Amino acid sequence: MTAPAPARPTARTRFHPLTVTAVDPAAADASAARITLRVPDGLRTLFAFTPGQHLTVRAALHGAETRRSYSLCSTPAELERDGTLRIGVRAVPGGRFSHYATRLLQPGEDLHARPATGRFTTTIPAGRPRRIAALAAGSGITPLLSLLTAVLDTEPQSTVTLLYGNRCADAAMFTEELADLKDRHRHRIRVLHVFSREDQRAGLATARLDHRGLRALLPRLLPAGADEWFVCGPPGMVAAAELVLADLGVAPAAVHTEQFTAAAPAPAPAPAPAPRPHAAGGDTARMCELTVRLDGRSSTVRVPVGTNVLDAALSARPETPYSCRSGVCATCRAKVVLGRAQCPGTPALGADEVAEGYVLTCRSTAPDERLTVDYDAL
Ligand code: FES
Repeated sequence: MTAPAPARPTARTRFHPLTVTAVDPAAADASAARITLRVPDGLRTLFAFTPGQHLTVRAALHGAETRRSYSLCSTPAELERDGTLRIGVRAVPGGRFSHYATRLLQPGEDLHARPATGRFTTTIPAGRPRRIAALAAGSGITPLLSLLTAVLDTEPQSTVTLLYGNRCADAAMFTEELADLKDRHRHRIRVLHVFSREDQRAGLATARLDHRGLRALLPRLLPAGADEWFVCGPPGMVAAAELVLADLGVAPAAVHTEQFTAAAPAPAPAPAPAPRPHAAGGDTARMCELTVRLDGRSSTVRVPVGTNVLDAALSARPETPYSCRSGVCATCRAKVVLGRAQCPGTPALGADEVAEGYVLTCRSTAPDERLTVDYDAL
Protein backbone atom coordinates (compact mmCIF):
# COMPACT_ATOMS: atom_id res chain seq x y z
CA MET A 1 0.00 0.00 0.00
CA THR A 2 1.30 3.47 -0.84
CA ALA A 3 1.39 5.36 2.42
CA PRO A 4 -1.15 8.15 2.20
CA ALA A 5 0.15 11.63 2.80
CA PRO A 6 -1.03 13.04 6.12
CA ALA A 7 -4.53 14.36 5.56
CA ARG A 8 -5.27 17.96 6.42
CA PRO A 9 -8.88 18.72 5.60
CA THR A 10 -9.35 22.11 4.04
CA ALA A 11 -11.97 24.53 5.32
CA ARG A 12 -14.44 23.24 2.71
CA THR A 13 -14.20 19.60 3.69
CA ARG A 14 -14.01 20.22 7.44
CA PHE A 15 -17.06 20.35 9.70
CA HIS A 16 -17.50 23.66 11.53
CA PRO A 17 -19.48 24.25 14.73
CA LEU A 18 -22.48 26.52 14.07
CA THR A 19 -24.51 27.72 17.03
CA VAL A 20 -28.19 26.81 17.04
CA THR A 21 -30.21 29.97 17.66
CA ALA A 22 -33.72 28.53 17.26
CA VAL A 23 -35.56 25.25 16.79
CA ASP A 24 -39.13 25.97 15.69
CA PRO A 25 -41.95 23.74 14.52
CA ALA A 26 -42.20 23.71 10.73
CA ALA A 27 -45.50 21.79 10.46
CA ALA A 28 -48.76 21.98 12.42
CA ASP A 29 -48.48 18.33 13.47
CA ALA A 30 -44.99 18.99 14.94
CA SER A 31 -43.49 16.39 12.60
CA ALA A 32 -40.83 18.79 11.33
CA ALA A 33 -38.56 21.53 12.63
CA ARG A 34 -36.92 24.62 11.24
CA ILE A 35 -33.42 24.93 12.73
CA THR A 36 -31.64 28.27 12.61
CA LEU A 37 -27.84 28.29 12.75
CA ARG A 38 -25.55 31.27 13.30
CA VAL A 39 -22.51 31.38 11.03
CA PRO A 40 -19.49 33.15 12.56
CA ASP A 41 -18.52 36.28 10.62
CA GLY A 42 -15.26 34.72 9.47
CA LEU A 43 -17.05 31.75 7.91
CA ARG A 44 -19.77 33.59 5.97
CA THR A 45 -17.90 33.39 2.67
CA LEU A 46 -17.21 29.72 3.19
CA PHE A 47 -20.87 28.98 3.92
CA ALA A 48 -22.17 31.02 0.97
CA PHE A 49 -24.62 28.91 -1.04
CA THR A 50 -27.02 28.96 -3.92
CA PRO A 51 -30.72 28.28 -3.22
CA GLY A 52 -31.62 24.60 -3.50
CA GLN A 53 -28.37 23.34 -1.93
CA HIS A 54 -28.02 21.31 1.25
CA LEU A 55 -25.76 21.14 4.28
CA THR A 56 -24.18 17.98 5.60
CA VAL A 57 -24.41 17.95 9.40
CA ARG A 58 -23.01 15.47 11.86
CA ALA A 59 -23.43 14.51 15.49
CA ALA A 60 -22.17 11.77 17.77
CA LEU A 61 -25.27 9.72 18.60
CA HIS A 62 -25.12 6.59 20.75
CA GLY A 63 -21.35 6.60 20.40
CA ALA A 64 -21.30 6.67 16.58
CA GLU A 65 -20.74 9.56 14.22
CA THR A 66 -23.93 10.12 12.25
CA ARG A 67 -24.21 12.37 9.19
CA ARG A 68 -27.23 13.62 7.33
CA SER A 69 -27.89 16.09 4.54
CA TYR A 70 -30.64 18.65 5.00
CA SER A 71 -31.72 21.24 2.48
CA LEU A 72 -31.47 24.91 3.30
CA CYS A 73 -34.80 26.70 3.41
CA SER A 74 -33.30 30.19 3.92
CA THR A 75 -31.81 32.44 1.25
CA PRO A 76 -28.32 33.78 0.55
CA ALA A 77 -29.66 37.27 1.35
CA GLU A 78 -30.45 36.18 4.92
CA LEU A 79 -26.94 34.82 5.35
CA GLU A 80 -25.53 38.11 4.16
CA ARG A 81 -27.89 40.22 6.27
CA ASP A 82 -28.21 38.22 9.51
CA GLY A 83 -25.38 35.70 9.35
CA THR A 84 -27.87 32.84 9.66
CA LEU A 85 -28.77 29.67 7.80
CA ARG A 86 -31.93 27.61 8.26
CA ILE A 87 -32.52 23.95 7.49
CA GLY A 88 -35.77 22.01 7.49
CA VAL A 89 -35.80 18.61 9.20
CA ARG A 90 -38.68 16.13 9.04
CA ALA A 91 -38.77 13.59 11.89
CA VAL A 92 -38.43 10.15 10.28
CA PRO A 93 -39.92 7.18 12.18
CA GLY A 94 -36.97 5.46 13.84
CA GLY A 95 -34.60 8.11 12.51
CA ARG A 96 -31.95 8.76 15.14
CA PHE A 97 -30.63 11.97 13.68
CA SER A 98 -33.99 13.49 12.88
CA HIS A 99 -35.21 12.66 16.40
CA TYR A 100 -32.13 14.34 17.84
CA ALA A 101 -32.49 17.38 15.59
CA THR A 102 -36.22 17.92 16.06
CA ARG A 103 -36.66 16.87 19.72
CA LEU A 104 -33.37 17.14 21.59
CA LEU A 105 -31.30 19.88 19.97
CA GLN A 106 -31.54 23.15 21.89
CA PRO A 107 -30.70 26.79 21.15
CA GLY A 108 -27.19 27.56 22.36
CA GLU A 109 -25.81 24.17 21.35
CA ASP A 110 -23.51 23.65 18.39
CA LEU A 111 -24.35 21.66 15.29
CA HIS A 112 -21.35 20.70 13.18
CA ALA A 113 -21.88 21.42 9.49
CA ARG A 114 -19.95 21.36 6.27
CA PRO A 115 -20.41 24.12 3.66
CA ALA A 116 -23.34 23.68 1.28
CA THR A 117 -23.23 21.48 -1.79
CA GLY A 118 -25.75 20.25 -4.34
CA ARG A 119 -26.80 20.77 -7.95
CA PHE A 120 -30.54 21.27 -7.44
CA THR A 121 -30.21 24.96 -8.13
CA THR A 122 -30.26 27.62 -10.79
CA THR A 123 -28.62 30.96 -11.47
CA ILE A 124 -30.39 33.68 -9.47
CA PRO A 125 -31.10 36.32 -10.62
CA ALA A 126 -31.44 34.89 -14.11
CA GLY A 127 -31.14 38.24 -15.90
CA ARG A 128 -34.39 37.58 -17.79
CA PRO A 129 -38.00 37.07 -16.76
CA ARG A 130 -38.96 33.43 -16.43
CA ARG A 131 -41.87 31.23 -15.46
CA ILE A 132 -40.88 28.78 -12.75
CA ALA A 133 -42.94 25.69 -11.95
CA ALA A 134 -42.24 23.83 -8.70
CA LEU A 135 -43.60 20.44 -7.70
CA ALA A 136 -43.00 19.39 -4.09
CA ALA A 137 -44.10 16.49 -1.94
CA GLY A 138 -43.65 16.45 1.84
CA SER A 139 -40.29 17.80 2.99
CA GLY A 140 -39.39 18.32 -0.68
CA ILE A 141 -40.69 21.83 -0.12
CA THR A 142 -37.52 22.71 1.86
CA PRO A 143 -35.09 23.52 -0.99
CA LEU A 144 -37.98 24.92 -3.04
CA LEU A 145 -38.80 27.46 -0.34
CA SER A 146 -35.27 28.81 -0.67
CA LEU A 147 -35.34 28.75 -4.48
CA LEU A 148 -38.76 30.33 -4.89
CA THR A 149 -38.12 33.02 -2.27
CA ALA A 150 -34.84 33.98 -3.92
CA VAL A 151 -36.41 34.07 -7.40
CA LEU A 152 -39.35 36.22 -6.30
CA ASP A 153 -37.22 38.55 -4.20
CA THR A 154 -34.57 39.18 -6.84
CA GLU A 155 -36.32 38.74 -10.23
CA PRO A 156 -39.13 41.31 -10.35
CA GLN A 157 -40.57 40.00 -13.63
CA SER A 158 -40.46 36.26 -12.91
CA THR A 159 -43.49 34.22 -11.87
CA VAL A 160 -43.82 31.06 -9.81
CA THR A 161 -46.40 28.26 -9.69
CA LEU A 162 -46.06 25.80 -6.81
CA LEU A 163 -47.92 22.50 -6.55
CA TYR A 164 -47.37 21.11 -3.05
CA GLY A 165 -48.62 17.67 -2.02
CA ASN A 166 -48.98 16.26 1.48
CA ARG A 167 -50.79 13.50 3.30
CA CYS A 168 -52.95 16.02 5.13
CA ALA A 169 -52.98 19.72 5.85
CA ASP A 170 -51.28 19.43 9.25
CA ALA A 171 -48.29 17.65 7.74
CA ALA A 172 -47.54 20.48 5.28
CA MET A 173 -44.28 22.27 6.06
CA PHE A 174 -43.59 26.01 5.95
CA THR A 175 -47.19 27.05 5.44
CA GLU A 176 -46.55 30.39 7.19
CA GLU A 177 -43.54 31.14 5.00
CA LEU A 178 -45.55 30.27 1.88
CA ALA A 179 -48.41 32.50 3.01
CA ASP A 180 -45.91 35.29 3.62
CA LEU A 181 -44.46 34.81 0.12
CA LYS A 182 -47.97 35.09 -1.31
CA ASP A 183 -48.54 38.29 0.64
CA ARG A 184 -45.34 39.87 -0.58
CA HIS A 185 -45.61 38.75 -4.22
CA ARG A 186 -49.35 38.47 -4.61
CA HIS A 187 -49.45 38.72 -8.39
CA ARG A 188 -46.43 36.59 -9.17
CA ILE A 189 -46.97 33.41 -7.19
CA ARG A 190 -49.67 30.75 -7.27
CA VAL A 191 -49.68 27.97 -4.66
CA LEU A 192 -51.89 24.91 -4.92
CA HIS A 193 -51.90 22.55 -1.94
CA VAL A 194 -53.16 19.02 -2.55
CA PHE A 195 -53.72 16.33 0.07
CA SER A 196 -53.78 12.59 -0.46
CA ARG A 197 -55.86 11.67 2.62
CA GLU A 198 -58.18 14.43 3.56
CA ASP A 199 -59.44 16.96 3.08
CA GLN A 200 -62.87 17.79 2.04
CA ARG A 201 -62.86 21.21 3.65
CA ALA A 202 -63.66 23.97 1.21
CA GLY A 203 -60.76 25.00 -0.96
CA LEU A 204 -58.62 21.95 -0.26
CA ALA A 205 -58.00 19.58 -3.14
CA THR A 206 -57.71 15.83 -2.67
CA ALA A 207 -55.13 14.36 -5.02
CA ARG A 208 -51.97 12.33 -5.02
CA LEU A 209 -48.86 13.53 -6.83
CA ASP A 210 -48.42 10.24 -8.66
CA HIS A 211 -48.45 9.72 -12.41
CA ARG A 212 -52.23 9.87 -12.62
CA GLY A 213 -52.58 12.90 -10.37
CA LEU A 214 -49.85 14.86 -12.12
CA ARG A 215 -51.18 13.94 -15.57
CA ALA A 216 -54.55 15.36 -14.55
CA LEU A 217 -53.29 18.44 -12.69
CA LEU A 218 -50.40 19.84 -14.70
CA PRO A 219 -52.12 20.64 -18.01
CA ARG A 220 -54.89 22.41 -16.08
CA LEU A 221 -52.58 24.25 -13.71
CA LEU A 222 -49.97 25.24 -16.28
CA PRO A 223 -51.59 25.18 -19.73
CA ALA A 224 -48.82 27.37 -21.13
CA GLY A 225 -46.04 25.34 -19.48
CA ALA A 226 -43.02 26.90 -17.78
CA ASP A 227 -39.43 27.84 -18.57
CA GLU A 228 -37.94 25.82 -15.73
CA TRP A 229 -39.34 23.01 -13.61
CA PHE A 230 -38.12 22.08 -10.14
CA VAL A 231 -39.29 18.77 -8.70
CA CYS A 232 -38.46 17.58 -5.17
CA GLY A 233 -39.98 14.65 -3.33
CA PRO A 234 -39.66 10.91 -2.73
CA PRO A 235 -38.29 8.77 -5.59
CA GLY A 236 -41.70 7.60 -6.86
CA MET A 237 -43.06 11.13 -7.11
CA VAL A 238 -39.93 12.42 -8.87
CA ALA A 239 -39.99 9.55 -11.37
CA ALA A 240 -43.70 10.12 -12.06
CA ALA A 241 -43.12 13.84 -12.60
CA GLU A 242 -40.28 13.16 -15.04
CA LEU A 243 -42.48 10.81 -17.05
CA VAL A 244 -45.42 13.19 -17.13
CA LEU A 245 -43.27 16.19 -18.08
CA ALA A 246 -41.63 14.19 -20.87
CA ASP A 247 -45.12 13.20 -22.02
CA LEU A 248 -46.10 16.86 -22.08
CA GLY A 249 -43.11 17.64 -24.28
CA VAL A 250 -40.99 19.41 -21.66
CA ALA A 251 -37.29 19.26 -22.58
CA PRO A 252 -35.25 17.31 -19.99
CA ALA A 253 -32.82 20.24 -19.73
CA ALA A 254 -35.64 22.38 -18.32
CA VAL A 255 -36.34 19.93 -15.49
CA HIS A 256 -34.33 19.96 -12.25
CA THR A 257 -34.98 17.13 -9.82
CA GLU A 258 -33.97 16.22 -6.30
CA GLN A 259 -35.23 13.23 -4.41
CA PHE A 260 -35.07 12.27 -0.79
CA THR A 261 -35.65 9.02 0.96
CA ALA A 262 -37.95 8.79 3.95
CA ALA A 263 -36.21 5.66 5.16
CA ALA A 264 -33.66 6.14 7.92
CA PRO A 265 -30.31 5.39 6.29
CA ALA A 266 -27.95 2.95 7.93
CA PRO A 267 -25.67 4.61 10.47
CA ALA A 268 -22.33 5.69 9.08
CA PRO A 269 -19.26 3.79 10.19
CA ALA A 270 -16.62 5.33 12.43
CA PRO A 271 -14.43 7.85 10.62
CA ALA A 272 -11.74 6.55 8.28
CA PRO A 273 -12.78 2.90 8.13
CA ALA A 274 -10.45 0.34 6.65
CA PRO A 275 -11.40 -0.47 3.07
CA ARG A 276 -13.90 -3.29 2.99
CA PRO A 277 -14.89 -5.40 0.05
CA HIS A 278 -18.16 -4.42 -1.57
CA ALA A 279 -21.13 -6.62 -0.78
CA ALA A 280 -20.59 -8.28 -4.16
CA GLY A 281 -17.28 -9.55 -2.78
CA GLY A 282 -13.80 -8.08 -3.07
CA ASP A 283 -11.28 -9.99 -5.15
CA THR A 284 -8.33 -10.13 -2.77
CA ALA A 285 -6.09 -11.81 -5.37
CA ARG A 286 -6.14 -8.68 -7.55
CA MET A 287 -5.40 -5.25 -6.22
CA CYS A 288 -6.52 -1.84 -7.44
CA GLU A 289 -4.43 1.30 -7.13
CA LEU A 290 -7.00 3.93 -6.30
CA THR A 291 -6.02 7.58 -6.53
CA VAL A 292 -8.24 10.17 -4.87
CA ARG A 293 -8.07 13.83 -5.90
CA LEU A 294 -9.58 16.05 -3.23
CA ASP A 295 -8.96 19.67 -2.31
CA GLY A 296 -6.24 19.95 -4.94
CA ARG A 297 -4.18 17.05 -3.60
CA SER A 298 -3.88 13.42 -4.72
CA SER A 299 -3.58 10.40 -2.42
CA THR A 300 -3.19 6.79 -3.50
CA VAL A 301 -4.18 3.59 -1.75
CA ARG A 302 -4.08 -0.06 -2.82
CA VAL A 303 -7.23 -2.05 -2.15
CA PRO A 304 -8.66 -5.37 -3.37
CA VAL A 305 -10.45 -5.17 -6.71
CA GLY A 306 -14.20 -4.92 -5.99
CA THR A 307 -13.75 -2.64 -2.97
CA ASN A 308 -16.32 0.06 -2.40
CA VAL A 309 -14.77 3.28 -3.76
CA LEU A 310 -15.94 5.54 -0.91
CA ASP A 311 -14.57 3.16 1.72
CA ALA A 312 -11.24 3.04 -0.10
CA ALA A 313 -11.18 6.83 -0.49
CA LEU A 314 -11.93 7.32 3.22
CA SER A 315 -9.03 5.06 4.16
CA ALA A 316 -6.69 7.36 2.25
CA ARG A 317 -8.47 10.64 2.93
CA PRO A 318 -10.69 10.58 6.02
CA GLU A 319 -12.17 13.97 5.05
CA THR A 320 -13.71 12.55 1.84
CA PRO A 321 -17.26 13.93 1.68
CA TYR A 322 -20.25 11.66 2.19
CA SER A 323 -23.56 11.71 4.00
CA CYS A 324 -26.36 9.23 3.26
CA ARG A 325 -24.27 6.34 1.90
CA SER A 326 -27.35 5.16 0.08
CA GLY A 327 -27.11 6.89 -3.30
CA VAL A 328 -29.52 9.72 -2.57
CA CYS A 329 -27.74 12.91 -1.53
CA ALA A 330 -24.88 12.97 -4.11
CA THR A 331 -22.48 14.38 -1.48
CA CYS A 332 -19.97 11.65 -2.46
CA ARG A 333 -20.11 12.50 -6.19
CA ALA A 334 -16.77 12.34 -8.01
CA LYS A 335 -15.56 12.14 -11.59
CA VAL A 336 -13.72 9.10 -12.89
CA VAL A 337 -10.66 10.51 -14.67
CA LEU A 338 -8.69 7.26 -15.12
CA GLY A 339 -9.97 3.70 -15.36
CA ARG A 340 -13.58 2.86 -14.64
CA ALA A 341 -15.88 2.43 -11.67
CA GLN A 342 -18.94 0.24 -11.56
CA CYS A 343 -21.85 2.35 -10.37
CA PRO A 344 -25.48 1.24 -10.62
CA GLY A 345 -27.91 3.72 -12.16
CA THR A 346 -29.12 6.36 -9.77
CA PRO A 347 -31.58 9.23 -10.13
CA ALA A 348 -29.26 11.37 -8.00
CA LEU A 349 -27.09 11.83 -11.10
CA GLY A 350 -28.34 13.29 -14.36
CA ALA A 351 -27.78 11.48 -17.67
CA ASP A 352 -25.35 14.25 -18.67
CA GLU A 353 -23.30 13.74 -15.50
CA VAL A 354 -23.15 9.98 -16.04
CA ALA A 355 -22.06 10.57 -19.64
CA GLU A 356 -19.28 12.87 -18.38
CA GLY A 357 -17.99 10.16 -16.04
CA TYR A 358 -19.44 11.18 -12.67
CA VAL A 359 -20.28 8.45 -10.17
CA LEU A 360 -21.60 8.22 -6.64
CA THR A 361 -18.62 6.72 -4.88
CA CYS A 362 -20.73 5.28 -2.05
CA ARG A 363 -22.41 3.03 -4.63
CA SER A 364 -19.35 2.30 -6.77
CA THR A 365 -16.77 -0.44 -6.85
CA ALA A 366 -13.34 -0.55 -8.45
CA PRO A 367 -13.33 -3.43 -10.98
CA ASP A 368 -9.82 -3.04 -12.42
CA GLU A 369 -6.20 -2.47 -11.37
CA ARG A 370 -6.30 1.32 -11.65
CA LEU A 371 -8.85 3.98 -10.85
CA THR A 372 -8.58 7.70 -10.28
CA VAL A 373 -11.56 9.66 -8.97
CA ASP A 374 -11.67 13.44 -8.73
CA TYR A 375 -13.87 14.93 -6.00
CA ASP A 376 -12.88 18.45 -7.06
CA ALA A 377 -14.33 18.16 -10.58
CA LEU A 378 -17.26 20.51 -11.00
S1 FES B 1 -23.15 9.63 0.36
FE1 FES B 1 -25.13 10.22 -0.31
S2 FES B 1 -25.14 9.58 -2.39
FE2 FES B 1 -23.24 8.83 -1.64
